[in-house]
Amino acid sequence: MAARTISASATAALAWSSRPASTLLSGARPVLCRRRLPASVSAPVLATGTPFLSSSLPTAPSSSTPLSSSQQARYSSHSPMGPPSGKQRKKVTIGTLRSLYAKNEPITMITAHDFPSALVADNSGMDMVLVGDSLAMVALGMEDTSEVLVEEMLLHCRSVARATKAAFTVGDLPMGSYEIGPEQGLETAIRFIKQGRVQAVKLEGGREMAPTIHKITSAGIPVLAHVGLTPQRQNALGGFKVQGKTAGGALRVLEDALAVQDAGAFAVVLEAVPAEIARIVTEKLDIPTIGIGAGNACSGQVLVQVDMTGNFPPGRFLPKFVKQYGDVWAEAQQAVEAYRADVKSRAYPAPEHTYPMPQEELDMFANAVEQSPHLQKRRSS
Ligand code: KIV
Repeated sequence: MAARTISASATAALAWSSRPASTLLSGARPVLCRRRLPASVSAPVLATGTPFLSSSLPTAPSSSTPLSSSQQARYSSHSPMGPPSGKQRKKVTIGTLRSLYAKNEPITMITAHDFPSALVADNSGMDMVLVGDSLAMVALGMEDTSEVLVEEMLLHCRSVARATKAAFTVGDLPMGSYEIGPEQGLETAIRFIKQGRVQAVKLEGGREMAPTIHKITSAGIPVLAHVGLTPQRQNALGGFKVQGKTAGGALRVLEDALAVQDAGAFAVVLEAVPAEIARIVTEKLDIPTIGIGAGNACSGQVLVQVDMTGNFPPGRFLPKFVKQYGDVWAEAQQAVEAYRADVKSRAYPAPEHTYPMPQEELDMFANAVEQSPHLQKRRSS
């Protein structure tokens, strides 16, 4: 509802009614206030300036009592957090990940690209959340990851980080933000920590990235390395192809994994390599391997959230390694179609979705409108 100030003639019309306008308008503000107001401001106010009093609204505490966030009544759907669900977990740290690895307990990781997808991941008990540059496609509709910018990644990292109270959160350095040299890599990594509010960064590449990984980790920023299929280099790889399928290719994957480990990476993503090769690489390393399309012998697994929840339109290509655990798209489409049908048939909103108002106030309002010539329906000329 647009905010309107009450005009002199409407005030006069209200004055004509059984109560003096001064009482009707005392404490009136020109906007419809949606949050609970301190007692001094009385109640939420209609756009006309008429105080909106309803027994269904919670009573305001005294103006001297500050409202806690749980006390605030919000008349919009934009509450950033739902009620806290379940028990709060302890924050997952590098130490937690090391101890999971030492116990041979699989490390769980999933991507998230915004606040809700991060919240569901965190509430579901994921150990790690990755703000992967796959968001270029799944959240921004880009063709591939080469287009996404550091600033865009940082925006997504910040929104994810606000939700991940427990999960160890990793931001993906986008293509072009670290390959020029270790200095560039460190500069970008620092931005991800300071501005993106993540706890670690991920970057793609093996041996050639060792100096950069060394530089970043020496500055105290944990690095998750990524070898095997590295999608940012799809043009050089000839597409999104499985890596390490030949003896020579498999040796390169192992050498890359050892190099990033020696450079200081705390873990390494192994993407699209045969399960047997991933098993051997995992055995040869002293840091966790996080597999995606790399079989179940890895120290942990990662999937892109929209893939595994089925949050994509029918017919979209899905890589072979993805197991689809849900059908979020169908569920959402069904809901939106039902909403559309309800709006068209006026079944929605039903009375229970509307705000009540005292009949007396409604009558006074109607009277005031009737008595005010300038509030009559205008004819377009
Ligand atoms: O960008 C991404 O989501 C990733 C994962 C697939 C590992 O890099």
